[in-house]
Amino acid sequence: MPTSTRPPRIRKAIFPVAGLGTRVLPATKSIPKEMLTLVDKPVLQVVMEEAREAGIEHFIFVTGRNKQVIEDHFDMAYELEDSLQKRGKLDILAQLRAERPAAGTTSFTRQQEPLGLGHAVWCARDIVGDEPFAVLLPDMITIGKTGCMKQCMEVYKAAGGNVVAVEECDPAIAHQYGIVGVGKEVSKQGFRITAMVEKPPRSTAPSNRYITGRYILQPEIFKILEKGERGAGGEIQLTDGMVSLMKKQPFHGMTYNGITYDCGSKLGYLQATVAYALSRKDLADAARREIAALLG
Ligand code: G1P
Repeated sequence: MPTSTRPPRIRKAIFPVAGLGTRVLPATKSIPKEMLTLVDKPVLQVVMEEAREAGIEHFIFVTGRNKQVIEDHFDMAYELEDSLQKRGKLDILAQLRAERPAAGTTSFTRQQEPLGLGHAVWCARDIVGDEPFAVLLPDMITIGKTGCMKQCMEVYKAAGGNVVAVEECDPAIAHQYGIVGVGKEVSKQGFRITAMVEKPPRSTAPSNRYITGRYILQPEIFKILEKGERGAGGEIQLTDGMVSLMKKQPFHGMTYNGITYDCGSKLGYLQATVAYALSRKDLADAARREIAALLG
């Protein structure tokens, strides 16, 4: 019998949600930044739905102090559901129930010290175990016909290995992100990554393709992150871990067919809110009308 060459299915996703959200203070003084809303949904729920669309079955949240409300959000709110039922608000009740993750499909662990993204991902190693997994950074909202993680899965199915979503950026802001070097095509949207650098000094970036915060990674990354080597900003960087793993395993870039918005900044958050409203069938027409009226 011929053995299948399909790479193993990606079942689990890590959501690093321990950050303080200092760039959008005072909004985040008592609310985790991941719970800020895009119209009527917390950004974290929007990102979680992107993962679910891509076939993810288990959702791992790496949280920190004062983030308990995230756990509550993905739990059943018995009193609320009961009140909605008694008041006959059955549409929203059905929506809440449909969106709630099934029992046993979420895990929460804490990043006890703010040591960087690589460290946050490493904190989930025991929950992930020995299988490839996804990472989604909830600061980054991706809006397109299909979600960014689903598109990453297509490249993973075609090429295997590790997959990193990228998009073009203005070279003037490349120093704020992770940047990849672009090699030969491996599929319609996929290419071989030839280099990766986290927050390259100005004018040294290997290209203008920046890492947008969606990854599919092999579990060997955990052994590398465990070493705790510090990189840009004195932090344990996920990008540096990937650079080490790249010596042994292929990394593929996936050029996202859509747009990513950085909700960590005030303007990015505003853009994401408008783009999200315009992407919703139930809101798009009215939103377009109101925005046009506001702009005069
Ligand atoms: C992280 C990653 C970086 C990526 C960025 C996207 O950086 O390290 O490679 O481009 O997210 O938002 P951070 O935003 O945590 O500084």
